[in-house]
Amino acid sequence: MRKFNFCAGPSALPTEVLEELREEILDWKSQGLSVMEMSHRSKEVVEIAETAKQDFIDLMNIGSDYDVLFIQGGASLQFSMVPMNLLTPSNALCNYLNVGQWSKKAIKEAKKYGDVNISASSEEDSFKKYPSPNDWKVDENASYLHLVMNETIDGACIRNHENLPDVDLVADCSSCILSEPLDVSKFALIYAGAQKNIGPAGLAIVIIRRDLLTEKNDIPAMMNYKTYSDSDSMYNTPPTFAWYLSGKVFKWLKNKGGLENQKKENESKANKLYGFIDSSDFYKNDVDIESRSIMNVPFLMNDESLNQKFLAESEQAGLLNLGGHRSVGGMRASIYNAVPPAGIDALVEFMKDFEKENG
Ligand SMILES: Cc1ncc(COP(=O)(O)O)c(C=O)c1O
Repeated sequence: MRKFNFCAGPSALPTEVLEELREEILDWKSQGLSVMEMSHRSKEVVEIAETAKQDFIDLMNIGSDYDVLFIQGGASLQFSMVPMNLLTPSNALCNYLNVGQWSKKAIKEAKKYGDVNISASSEEDSFKKYPSPNDWKVDENASYLHLVMNETIDGACIRNHENLPDVDLVADCSSCILSEPLDVSKFALIYAGAQKNIGPAGLAIVIIRRDLLTEKNDIPAMMNYKTYSDSDSMYNTPPTFAWYLSGKVFKWLKNKGGLENQKKENESKANKLYGFIDSSDFYKNDVDIESRSIMNVPFLMNDESLNQKFLAESEQAGLLNLGGHRSVGGMRASIYNAVPPAGIDALVEFMKDFEKENG
């Protein structure tokens, strides 16, 4: 029996996608082998890859002035690839927001290649309040401004994209990509690790404005965005399985009504969970209301000695992976696209019963 999986990543995949995979795993379309065993240069795999890319472009409504790249190494590799590609000897200055644990990692890497101006930081607020764009101190001479749109560990995100500054924005969207529509034209580059809303781990997707694809002879070919763009992301052997399954997730999203539909569903799921937490004296979420993530919902109990009991009993009840990140503790429900509304209902019911017994 499948259980509800609230893992932050690798996270739940849609059951329908896994069922399709089960159908195809031994014998893909009567070819007598699985996609995993096919050459990445075969016309079948090239078609799977191209279809997945196009479906992603359709879902995100990406204009032809951008390319979409499929790259190994996860989102963490992007922490390095971004500065390596976008900084130049004549301009090694970049702006970063320090809004959570993943921001700190991105900043650490950028400092190896350039001078980092911290445009805003919420560290003094323990990353509980995403700074408003009106308060960012952006150095206009910098090559770009990097922001983590949704901080997966801290559960804080930027909900309002109205006042983003008119500079080259680079966004880590690992834990919010495909959760709702996003105006790609406001960004120079967007990247996301796959293992949350896209597909299996082992892949990151990069959306890059084409004018940023430049020849760079001072960095390894595999670190250069242009290498991927010039070769349809097949310069070397790509993670074909992750790509193929991601394509199935994109079809699943399209069939469900695309990102407008996801936005409605995700907001409704998040509102239900936050609504319950706020109505209880037993649980709390201490993220500023305007900054609350609709994907990652951390919560605490007033009596922390109950944490282990909560985790053991929730697992017994078929609610998996509700522990907070090891660096912050507490609990966290990651409620990505593949966690159905019924998963939220089951979680809220469990939390109510737990409160009755232990409150
Ligand atoms: C916002 C964000 N950025 C970057 C990463 C790192 O991703 P990866 O493990 O794919 O390198 C994560 C992982 O959870 C994340 O949530």
